[in-house]
Amino acid sequence: MAEYAEQAGLNESFRSMKMEDIPAIVEIEKEAFTTPWTEAAFHNELTNNHFAHYVVMEMDGIIVGYAGMWLIIDEAHVTNIAIRNGYRGLKLGERLLQQMQASAAFLGAERMTLEVRVSNHIAQRLYGKLGFIPSGLRKAYYTDNGEDAMIMWVELPDVKGGAALYDAE
Ligand SMILES: CC(C)(COP(=O)(O)OP(=O)(O)OC[C@H]1O[C@@H](n2cnc3c(N)ncnc32)[C@H](O)[C@@H]1OP(=O)(O)O)[C@@H](O)C(=O)NCCC(=O)NCCS
Repeated sequence: MAEYAEQAGLNESFRSMKMEDIPAIVEIEKEAFTTPWTEAAFHNELTNNHFAHYVVMEMDGIIVGYAGMWLIIDEAHVTNIAIRNGYRGLKLGERLLQQMQASAAFLGAERMTLEVRVSNHIAQRLYGKLGFIPSGLRKAYYTDNGEDAMIMWVELPDVKGGAALYDAE
């Protein structure tokens, strides 16, 4: 599938997650995480959580990744990010996270944070590449194996409501 993605020219697009996306999202979630979120969890996020922003990334109509964040005043908390198996290593995760950073900044967030397993070096490298800096550990944060979470933060550019785009002219 990765070869197919390369031939297709990585024509990815982004849109808000919808209810009907949830079964496909949960499939990716199961591939990606040892304690995947359930359909009910995503359903709750999309209907009851007014802080939540969930984005799906598509290529040729196929959902290849998704990410979510809670936007609380001036802070964006990333809840999850995953790329479908077979589409990893193609810079899609990087583009998806850049899209989340841009959306968060546009919506008024000044900084973004997330937790990542201390053993998840691939994700940590992605986050480091996009400016996230480790700022401490949450001990035994993951209930499946008692693993620690590394907390990471990044400052976001000041582009509230697109102001910076207009100021640049
Ligand atoms: C983490 C994840 C989202 C990265 O997405 P991806 O599309 O595969 O990554 P990209 O191709 O965009 O790579 C971007 C950067 O991530 C890092 N990275 C990606 N794959 C890597 C690998 N196999 N080994 C080391 N670093 C890697 C690198 O820094 C890379 O930049 P570089 O190629 O210039 O060095 C994806 O691997 C995934 O879904 N993993 C399972 C779910 C998960 O762990 N989510 C994060 C939970 S906190």
